[in-house]
Amino acid sequence: MAAESTLPSPSSAGVTGGAAGGWSDRFEEGLHPAIERFNASIGFDITLLQEDLDGSVAHARMLGRCGVISEQEADRLIEGLELIRGEAAVGLFQPTIEAEDVHFAVERRLIELLGPLGKKLHTGRSRNDQVGTDLRLWLRRRIDEIEVALLRFERALLAQAEAHADTLIPGYTHLQRAQPICLAHHLLAYIEMAERDRSRLADVRRRVDICPLGAAALAGTPVPIDRRQTAEALGFASLYANSLDAVSDRDFAVEFMAAASLVLVHLSRLSEEVILWASEEFGFISLTDRCATGSSLMPQKKNPDVPELVRGKSGRVFGHLMGLLTMIKGLPLAYNKDFQEDKEALFDGVRTCLDCLEAMAILFEEGLVCRPERLERAVESDFSNATDVADYLVARVAWSRAA
Ligand code: ARG
Repeated sequence: MAAESTLPSPSSAGVTGGAAGGWSDRFEEGLHPAIERFNASIGFDITLLQEDLDGSVAHARMLGRCGVISEQEADRLIEGLELIRGEAAVGLFQPTIEAEDVHFAVERRLIELLGPLGKKLHTGRSRNDQVGTDLRLWLRRRIDEIEVALLRFERALLAQAEAHADTLIPGYTHLQRAQPICLAHHLLAYIEMAERDRSRLADVRRRVDICPLGAAALAGTPVPIDRRQTAEALGFASLYANSLDAVSDRDFAVEFMAAASLVLVHLSRLSEEVILWASEEFGFISLTDRCATGSSLMPQKKNPDVPELVRGKSGRVFGHLMGLLTMIKGLPLAYNKDFQEDKEALFDGVRTCLDCLEAMAILFEEGLVCRPERLERAVESDFSNATDVADYLVARVAWSRAA
């Protein structure tokens, strides 16, 4: 902490644009305050801070190795970047709207810390390939978290399936009782869906795992960089072949949202079943106190808020999918500011997907209790064995003919 006093304190002074802005001294006036607010993404893209720092550390190292800057300069840039990471960890890096976005915010702070050397970090790079890199690094991590969340959810379903291998429930078509089935069989159907979700996300991940660095603004850079080095340092599986495509491809965001939408479709269908089963009309299950809420007015009620919220939240993710498709469809090559709109969609889509998977896993781990007496009555009191009886009679005739 002693070192802290010797560091220039993070400034929030200055205006975006004009001589004080991040882009050009050609501008004589600062932005209109409302336009500044409208333009800024720092309020949400601060989410990408770790990835922005990771990308910049790899870029600085590469610039040093390629001799674009000296190795000592690279070391100092990396020290500065790690210092910013440290400041952020203790809440001391809180850029304001004047920084515009996370990329400018980090650059500004680096220049405050290192002086003009800080400006060298951006050599051979543009915010266009930088933001694409950050977003891919971020989404790759989140996909890995969703994979873990899906596995937890599947394990919770599997444990219930194992516990209920012999529990019979009515099976339905058209929501009419059709044939009795094992509860385990019913639950295992959702594990199949979740397994497809996992494989879809693994497939999307392959197309997230491509490095756009080196494309710069749109047409590459004359600076003798080595984009393989940065891609490798950041653990990317491959590089973009076309620089225009590199800075304007958001297919991966759409693909992710489509895959996430199906995760939510599956969770929503399961939620609907839990809600029905927990109603007094079905009465197949009851909800534990830890996973249900009460009514402020009616003491007899226990509300299935968790599956209702999951069912309700699914709409957000489908909405983001439509939003992304619409945002992209009319864009000429290459980068357009419209792309800034991809972030809130992705952040919220990922958050919703993770939250819903966790809530549903907990619900199946400890939130549901079967009501065997009601289930027994349900499968005994109807004629849902009719098909099985018919099958049995046909088989008996066939056997007796064969004999
Ligand atoms: N905040 C911007 C975004 O989210 C960063 C890239 C800005 N690039 C530019 N040429 N204005 O897309």
